[in-house]
Amino acid sequence: MLKIGVIGGSGLYGIKGLLLKNKKKVSTPFGKPSDQYVIGESGGTEIIFLPRHGSRHNIPPHEINYRANIWGFKMLGVTRIISINAVGGIKKGLKPGDIVIPDQTIDMTKNRKSTFYDGKEGVVHIDFTEPYCPDIRRILMKAGKNAKVALKDGGTYVAVEGPRLETASEIRSFAILGGDIVGMTGMPEASLARELEICYSGISVVANYAAGIKKKKLTTKEVMEAIGASTEKIKRLLKETFALIKEENSCACREALKEARI
Ligand code: HPA
Repeated sequence: MLKIGVIGGSGLYGIKGLLLKNKKKVSTPFGKPSDQYVIGESGGTEIIFLPRHGSRHNIPPHEINYRANIWGFKMLGVTRIISINAVGGIKKGLKPGDIVIPDQTIDMTKNRKSTFYDGKEGVVHIDFTEPYCPDIRRILMKAGKNAKVALKDGGTYVAVEGPRLETASEIRSFAILGGDIVGMTGMPEASLARELEICYSGISVVANYAAGIKKKKLTTKEVMEAIGASTEKIKRLLKETFALIKEENSCACREALKEARI
């Protein structure tokens, strides 16, 4: 049976309407995932959900055990991961409530355990030219059309360490580097998934204008409200996406380790 993993971000701690089968506690060689995995079903596909910050939102972005979360999905047989996250909008024209399907990322995180290959398993350099699975990105765009959910096709996600928000100057520099959106959890999730040959794609919900874009203070309240306002759209998009994903794939994600070892 096809198994799709979904990682929920701020404001999305579960997917209601999913036929719930059970919950699974998983322990990994890298420690404990953020929470139990919630196993459900949608049209004959198994959906395995994990709230990234824990179901009570008690884990800050820099303390998330990204390795355990992704390893846990692998242990449960997941071959595709769709990751939902809240972001600040950098690019001109992006506004709160917009939904971006990113195609690139710039990793500005500093202190995270970001690989499964720390030498003991040999030295591995995965190709990461295209950080998000092109297959799932295409399917998400089609699902958006079918479900009448407007999506921005492509964008560069700048991953920051957090938990503080950025300075206006940092955001200006990210814009010069080509960053379109900024968030605290996109990396190393994407590269860890690639290291385990799992297809990974993101759905980024613009929760606020990034620092300095508008002359007003950023609040977590506005972030949570913007996410809350888009949950219905996200659920519609996910349901349609689940129906479109098939077992077979045409991307190279599942062969990421081929020719990656020294
Ligand atoms: N910056 C970083 N992470 C975020 C933001 C932001 O402006 N909004 C939501 N997550």
